[in-house]
Amino acid sequence: MSLTPAPAPFTADDYRARMARATESAAAAGLSGLLVAPGPDLVYLTGYQPTAITERLTVLVLAAGQEPVLVVPKLEASDAEHAPGAAALTLRDWTDAVDPYALTAPLLAPSGNAGSPQRFGVSDNAWALHLLGLQQRLPETSFAALTEALPMLRAVKDEHELARLEAAGAAADEAYTEILKVRFAGRKETDVAADLAALLIKYGHSQVDFTVVGSGPNGANPHHEAGDRTIAHGDMVVLDFGGLKHGYGSDTTRSVHVGEPSADEQRVHDVVREAQRAGFEAVRPGAACQDVDRAARAVIEEAGYGEYFIHRTGHGIGVTTHEPPYMIEGEEQPLVPGMCFSIEPGIYLPGRFGVRIEDIVTVTEDGGRSFNNTAREMAVVE
Ligand code: GLY
Ligand code: MN
Ligand code: MN
Repeated sequence: MSLTPAPAPFTADDYRARMARATESAAAAGLSGLLVAPGPDLVYLTGYQPTAITERLTVLVLAAGQEPVLVVPKLEASDAEHAPGAAALTLRDWTDAVDPYALTAPLLAPSGNAGSPQRFGVSDNAWALHLLGLQQRLPETSFAALTEALPMLRAVKDEHELARLEAAGAAADEAYTEILKVRFAGRKETDVAADLAALLIKYGHSQVDFTVVGSGPNGANPHHEAGDRTIAHGDMVVLDFGGLKHGYGSDTTRSVHVGEPSADEQRVHDVVREAQRAGFEAVRPGAACQDVDRAARAVIEEAGYGEYFIHRTGHGIGVTTHEPPYMIEGEEQPLVPGMCFSIEPGIYLPGRFGVRIEDIVTVTEDGGRSFNNTAREMAVVE
């Protein structure tokens, strides 16, 4: 068992640099600044993860030319004060019965909104309640979803983030290696899913986000939740699992078979494996995201299964499991060293079975490097 030591935590200086870069990127994208809601953007920029009770306004205001300000409810101010990035920002607390939108609006428009109209990027997951509250007080200001306005904000990982993602991938690989030793036939999908979750925790994950166990026909549903179906001899089983380790995500898929596969199942698996390899081979700096999708999809289409590959080829990963960049037709964003994303082609045959193979890959100076390195051949389990 290999458990990597915990990495050094990110410091206030790290968060200060991230916030400065975010503010600069916003300006370069024609935005006046960013409004960052509790969730992955706030974790990335400040290390602060407030309580899940978010009907009170918490928002980080990054406005051009201003110091970062984190608006927080008074009763959570002491939590915010201890956030890893707290030293890099100013806290502005508000008590219940005060209008937090009236308090926050001037932070967006310190000079009274004079001059050109303002446009702020807003975290995708910001509550409508909060955004509408601000919009009411700033009728001249427009807002844009952050993923639309600044999709690459978190996309290029630094060396410390890469180390975390690599460790998360290695832990998921350990979990896969061990799951091959458990019994599948005669047990429910939920039993194997529980085994997978326990293994992710055993190998250092703090959080398990998903444990897809899609046996037989259930494998034809790419995001099948493990259910009551009893796994039988002769089933293909899609295993797709991941979560967070040291704050960064893992996400890997292997498709295993209970007993020896049929020639047809083996052929489908071979096609997916070749598609996954082709996607990986397409990774290099300057290639477009859509090139990765095209490379993987071409293999599946040429084999006659194009209509059964029903999702994009990949998604970025970092402090969340799904984030930009997306490996999808129409995404012309060039790949940049440090980007990390999944390559996960699949073939889903309704009523029969599914096959998916997924690795997390990072872009290097001369190609790609995989953070998942377990055998991609179809494993036979019992
Ligand atoms: N798991 C495939 C996707 O959501 O893109
Ligand atoms: Mn997955
Ligand atoms: Mn994935």
